[in-house]
Amino acid sequence: MLRIGLLTSGGDCQALNATMRGIVKTLMTNSEEPIEIYGFEDGYQGLIYSRFRVMTPADFSGILTRGGTILGTSRTPFKRLDIPEADGVEKVPAMVHTYHKLQLDCLFMLGGNGSTKTANRLREEGLNVIALPKTIDNDTWGTELTFGFTSAIDVATKCIDDIHTTASSHGRVFVIEIMGHKVGWIPLYAGVAGGADVILIPEIPYDMDNVIKTIEHRMETGSRFTIVAVAEGAISKEDAALSKKEYKKKLAERTSPSIVYDIAKEIEAKTGRETRVAIPGHTQRGGQPDAQDRIFATQCGVEAALGCLRGEFGYMIALRDGKMCHMPLEDVAGKLKFVDPQSDLVREAKALGISFGDE
Ligand code: F6P
Repeated sequence: MLRIGLLTSGGDCQALNATMRGIVKTLMTNSEEPIEIYGFEDGYQGLIYSRFRVMTPADFSGILTRGGTILGTSRTPFKRLDIPEADGVEKVPAMVHTYHKLQLDCLFMLGGNGSTKTANRLREEGLNVIALPKTIDNDTWGTELTFGFTSAIDVATKCIDDIHTTASSHGRVFVIEIMGHKVGWIPLYAGVAGGADVILIPEIPYDMDNVIKTIEHRMETGSRFTIVAVAEGAISKEDAALSKKEYKKKLAERTSPSIVYDIAKEIEAKTGRETRVAIPGHTQRGGQPDAQDRIFATQCGVEAALGCLRGEFGYMIALRDGKMCHMPLEDVAGKLKFVDPQSDLVREAKALGISFGDE
C-alpha cells in the first residue's frame, strides 16, 4: 500500500486541481501497489488539525479545467510556525504527528514561497515531502515557471484590453493595479501583452516625473489615452531610498487602499487629464486555467508522482532551461525570483516605447 497526502497551501490559483489530477492519475497508472489518498483540508491547517478526506481517483476526475482547489487552502506563515495556534496546538509537532499517525509515505505540497519553507522544515523533521511550484506571481526561486502564472497573465491582459476601449472613448488615463506585492512578473507580462504604455514594478523604482513626461508626450503626439499598469508593490525611487523601517512606517500611514489611487491623483493633477483606476484584483486568481497552465500543472504532477514512485523525496519540481527537474528544498526554500531589470523582455519593452518610469 502506498499512502500519500495532498495539500494546497497559500493563495489559490487556477491550476491547483489540474496538478493534483496529474499526481493521482500518474500514481494510479504506474504504481504496482494500491494507493491510499489523504486530502488535507485548507492547507497546512488540515495537517495540523488532522482534518482530511480519504479520497478516491474519482474525486480527481473532471477537475482539469476547474479553478481554485477542491481541498481548500489557507496561509500558515512560516514566520509564525513556531508560535502555537490560538488554542495552544504546536504546529510542527502536530503536523509530524498527523503524518505518522496516517503512516504516510509521501506528502505532496502544492504551494508558493512561504509554503515551501514550511515544507522544507517538515523535511528537516524527517518527513518525505515533494513540493510543487504554485503561484500566480511566478516568484518562486529555482524554477522558470510556476503554475497559475500564465492564467493570471491572461486575466490581467484581458482587463488591460477591455480598459483600452473605454479609455480611448473618453480620452482618459487609466491606472490599472496588477497583482504582485514583491515582484512584477504579472504586470510586466500582461503589460506587454495588453499594450500598456507605462509599467511600474517593484524591481524598477519609478520617478513620477518620468511617468508624467510619458503621458504628456503621448497627449502631444495625438494619443487620446494612456494605460499605466502598476504592480501592487510598485515603489518610487524616493521610497526605495528609505530604510525598510521608514518605508513600512510610510505605508502604514498611507490613507488610500492602494498606491494606484495616489498615482492616479498625481497624474490627474499634473496633466489635467481625467484619470481613473481599475483593479482586476482576485479575478487574476480566478476562473479556469489556460492551456499552458494545464500542461505545466500536469507536467509538475506527473514528475512529482514518478519521483515518489522512485522513492525520491525532499525537493521541489522545477523547470530549468526548459527541462523538468528536481530542486533540493533546502536550496529553494525562502528565496524569491525577481524580474531582472536587464532582462530581454524589459529591454524589448523599453525599445518599443513602454516606460518603466525609471528614465
Ligand atoms: O500570492 C498571490 C497573490 O495573489 C499576490 O499576487 C497578491 O499580492 C496576494 O496573493 C493577495 O493575497 P490575499 O489573497 O491574501 O489577499
